Amino acid sequence: MFPTTSLISLCFLAVAYGQQVGTQVTENHPQMSSQKCTASGCTTLSTAVVLDSNWRWLHSVNSTTNCYTGNTWDKTLCPDPTTCTANCALDGADYGGTYGISSSGNALTLKFVTGANIGSRVYLMANQTNYQMFQLLNQEFSFDVDMSNLGCGLNGALYLSEMPVDGGMSATNKAGAKYGTGYCDSQCPHDMKFIGGVANIVNWTGAATDPNSGSGTFGTCCNEMDIWEANKNAAAYTPHVCTTNGKCTGVDCGDGSDRANGLCDKDGCDFNSYRMGDPSFLGPGKTVDTNSKFTVVTQFVAPSGTLTEIRRLYVQNGKVITNSNTNIAGISPAVNSITDDFCNAQKKAFGDTNSFESRGGLAAMGKALARGMVLALSIWDDHTAGMYWLDSTYPTDASASQPGAVRGPCSTTSGDPKTVESTEGSNQVIFSNIKFGDIGTTFSSTGTGTGTGTGGSSSTSTAPPTNTGGACAAQFAQCGGQGFSGPTCCSSPFTCKFNNAFYSQCL
Ligand SMILES: *[C@@H]1O[C@H](CO)[C@@H](O)[C@H](O)[C@H]1NC(C)=O
Ligand SMILES: *[C@@H]1O[C@H](CO)[C@@H](O)[C@H](O)[C@H]1NC(C)=O
Ligand SMILES: *[C@@H]1O[C@H](CO)[C@@H](O)[C@H](O)[C@H]1NC(C)=O
Repeated sequence: MFPTTSLISLCFLAVAYGQQVGTQVTENHPQMSSQKCTASGCTTLSTAVVLDSNWRWLHSVNSTTNCYTGNTWDKTLCPDPTTCTANCALDGADYGGTYGISSSGNALTLKFVTGANIGSRVYLMANQTNYQMFQLLNQEFSFDVDMSNLGCGLNGALYLSEMPVDGGMSATNKAGAKYGTGYCDSQCPHDMKFIGGVANIVNWTGAATDPNSGSGTFGTCCNEMDIWEANKNAAAYTPHVCTTNGKCTGVDCGDGSDRANGLCDKDGCDFNSYRMGDPSFLGPGKTVDTNSKFTVVTQFVAPSGTLTEIRRLYVQNGKVITNSNTNIAGISPAVNSITDDFCNAQKKAFGDTNSFESRGGLAAMGKALARGMVLALSIWDDHTAGMYWLDSTYPTDASASQPGAVRGPCSTTSGDPKTVESTEGSNQVIFSNIKFGDIGTTFSSTGTGTGTGTGGSSSTSTAPPTNTGGACAAQFAQCGGQGFSGPTCCSSPFTCKFNNAFYSQCL
C-alpha cells in the first residue's frame, strides 16, 4: 500500500456496537477455500473471508443510533475514547448486498462500487475466531487473478500484514477477528476507528477529499508484504518493513515531511515491470495478458533461514512466464527478482530515499514472514495520490525521462477518485485458487493451476544440475534453475532436488 485506503459510510445501515458486538445483522463469513501444498500434494482448507471492521456499521450498544456517520463521531456516545469504546458496537455485514463481496468455491469477487459503498478490504480466516496465519519464509504463495475489468486508478490488492491472529481480542475489544479488527500496515494508517481496542477519536479530523474517511491522532504500524497491487495496466510487488510494530503518534507515524523518519518504510522496495523498464510485459494483450486470468507465483527464498530473494513467476494458458528483466541504467546485470542488491541499486538509480534497507531490508521482512502474517484482499481507489505511483507517472509533474517516474500507461488525471468512482464503479477484481507451501509445489506449468494437482515438477526431463566446481550450496539453498548462476552442487549430505524449471533446492 502506498498511500492510505479509503473507507465507506454506513450511515444508511441499521446495526452494530463499537468494539463491542452488535446483534442487528448476523455475521456470515463468505467461504473461500485455499490449499496448503507439499511435494506430495495439496490439502484443501475451509477458509473464509471477513470484512474489515472500519467498513462496518458502528452503533450504540443499546440502539441503532450511529456512533459514526460519514466521517464524524457522535459526541454523546463518544465524548472520550474509553466511553466511546464501551458505548459502541460493530455489527455483522451484508457482504453481497451492501459491499459487493461474493465468493464461490475458491474464488472471491470484490466489486468496486455497490450502492453507497466504495471499495472493501477482507482478511482470510482459518475459522470463526482466528485469521489464517501465513508463515511463508522459504515458502511459495500462488493465486489466480482476473483483473480484466479493473481500470486506471484502481488497485486490486492481495497482501500480507502482520496483524494479531485473533484481531487483538481484549477486555475492550470483544469483536476480534470475527468482525475484522486489528488492521495495521506499513503506512501506519490513521483512519482506523479503533486501535488496540480503543476508539481513535482524539483530534479526529474528517478527510478533506473523502466524505467517508477521517484520521485520528494515532496510527497503527506493522510489517507488510504487498504480493500484488495492480490493475489491468500495471502491477507491483513490494516488501515494506518497520523497526517496530504497533500504535504510533507523532514522528513515529512518518506523516508528511516525516515520511522517511517513521517506524516503517512507507515506499517499500517495489518491482513493477513497467517501471523497471519493460512496458511490454504486463497489460492487455501483452506477455502476461491482463485481458484474461493468470496465475501469480511468489517465492520467498531463504536458503539458510534468512530471506535473500523474493521471486516472481506467472503462469498463463499452461505456460510459465519468467518475470521481466530490469532494463534500467544503474542496474547491471539485469535482474528479475527482489534482493537487497536490487533494492539498493534501484533506489540509487531512481534517486529515492532508501528507507527499506535502513529499516532492515529483506532480512526484516523474512522475520515477519517467519512469525506469521494475515492475508488481506482489497479493492480501492486513492484519495491521496490517485494511484499514480502504480499505473501512471509519479510525481505527476515529473518528466517522463526522469528515471523511475513512469510506472504505467495511465494518464496523470485518470486516478481522480471522483472520476474513478463515477466511470469505473462497475469494475471488479476476482482472486481465486490460493495455494501456499513448499517452493515449487503450488503451480504447474502444464495445467491452468485450477486442479488439485501438486504442481511444481513438470514432467519434462530437465537433468539435475551438475557440479561446476567451487563451494557447494547449503541445506535449503538454491542449486539450479533458469537464470541461476550460483553453485549447482549441494554440501554433504544434501542433494539438489529439481522443483521446476526455475528452481532447484538442496534438501
Ligand atoms: C446501555 O444499557 C445499559 C443497561 O441498561 C446501560 O448501563 C448503558 O449505559 C447503556 N449504554 C448506552 C450507550 O446507552
Ligand atoms: C482456529 O484457528 C486457530 C489458528 O489456526 C487455532 O489455534 C484455533 O484452535 C482454531 N479454533 C477453533 C475453534 O477451531
Ligand atoms: C489535539 O489537538 C490539540 C489542538 O491542536 C493539541 O493541543 C493536542 O496536543 C492534540 N492532542 C493530541 C493527543 O495530539
